Amino acid sequence: MDLFEYQARDLFEAHGVPVLDGIVATTPAQARAAAEQLLAAGSAVVVVKAQVKTGGRGKAGGVKLARSADEAEQVAGQILGMDIKGHTVHRVMVAAGASIVSEYYFSVLLDRSERRYLAMCSVEGGMEIEQLAVERPEALARVPVDPRVGIDAAKAAEIVAAAGFDDEVGPLVAPVLERLWEVYRDEDATLVEVNPLVRTADGAIVALDGKVSLDANADFRHPAHAELEDKDAADPLEAKAKAKGLNYVKLDGEVGIIGNGAGLVMSTLDVVAYAGEAHGGVKPANFLDIGGGASAEVMANGLDIILGDPQVKAVFVNVFGGITACDAVADGIVAALAILGDEASKPLVVRLDGNNVEEGRRILREAAHPLVTLAETMDGGADKAAELAHTAA
Ligand SMILES: Nc1ncnc2c1ncn2[C@@H]1O[C@H](COP(=O)(O)OP(=O)(O)OP(=O)(O)O)[C@@H](O)[C@H]1O
Ligand SMILES: [Mg+2]
Repeated sequence: MDLFEYQARDLFEAHGVPVLDGIVATTPAQARAAAEQLLAAGSAVVVVKAQVKTGGRGKAGGVKLARSADEAEQVAGQILGMDIKGHTVHRVMVAAGASIVSEYYFSVLLDRSERRYLAMCSVEGGMEIEQLAVERPEALARVPVDPRVGIDAAKAAEIVAAAGFDDEVGPLVAPVLERLWEVYRDEDATLVEVNPLVRTADGAIVALDGKVSLDANADFRHPAHAELEDKDAADPLEAKAKAKGLNYVKLDGEVGIIGNGAGLVMSTLDVVAYAGEAHGGVKPANFLDIGGGASAEVMANGLDIILGDPQVKAVFVNVFGGITACDAVADGIVAALAILGDEASKPLVVRLDGNNVEEGRRILREAAHPLVTLAETMDGGADKAAELAHTAA
């Protein structure tokens, strides 16, 4: 999960990273009040910043200086509602203005291919870091970080030296990198990026902008992270699936998919995409792994989500009976269709294999539900589902 800048700022503050005051506003009037508060607290100027989960806000006109509450209200009016690379601005952060002497860059991220972390740092921060990385890669220090050690004082000193900080500024920056590492480690992040990290006129080092991605696999360790989720942006079907504990990802196609086990579901997506080529180019509509215990309730919940997707024209249920035998899965499908009643309105192709497959197929044959077609093989089922989706489309 990617965070908004204001959320990153709050995490930074909680871990002792120096940041400036910032207040979120969703209307120009709120921005005005926020600016009044910051100006009264001693800021000479404020900066109104678009809160969108994409880069290049400054260049797009989403970061603007204001010298008075009036001006803050006016620029907030310009920024709110603005479109930045397909993201509509619903909030701004009104931040205390820093008097910047130098802008630096720092990030730490997960380097999957090297199986460790990577810190990147440059004395030339600001808005053009991607360009810098391409045009003058030597200006961006890349320092591997051992996950078992992290960024301790020695590693922080190594990073600032590699980035080319002088002996005066380096020792000021290094402790901030240690705090940023604590954010990364303690919050289970996969990215912490600060661009720019600045030195101000009074000699302080401050994180002026923050980008943080959190590892959703570690959510169970961080109940507080649930609050950070952007509920407005969540896909409604994905949100509903999550509330029911289902592992569901919405895709763009027409063939709904239900399977058990992430590997089987992934290969089902592949065979359906392949089969779709012969049927008008229909594609998988989702990923849904109902896991080991395919009970009637789980099956009904899964079907309910998939049938709720207006793009879905047919559904392919591809289940391998292991711990949960095929007869239990077949009972689950029959019961799910009974639970859903008239809401089940799209054709269902079912392929069962594995433990007790004969009994499972017998149950489905005898139930003889008008929407259900039995398939012998995975490829055959994918083809049939793609054909039905194409015909219905
Ligand atoms: N609080 C502030 N006080 C003074 N100047 C600021 C402040 N915040 C940002 N700036 C200036 O605006 C520039 C752009 O801000 P910021 O880094 O937050 O946005 P961005 O880099 O355009 O966005 P992104 O990081 O999403 O690409 C900074 O490099 C800095 O010069
Ligand atoms: Mg930035």
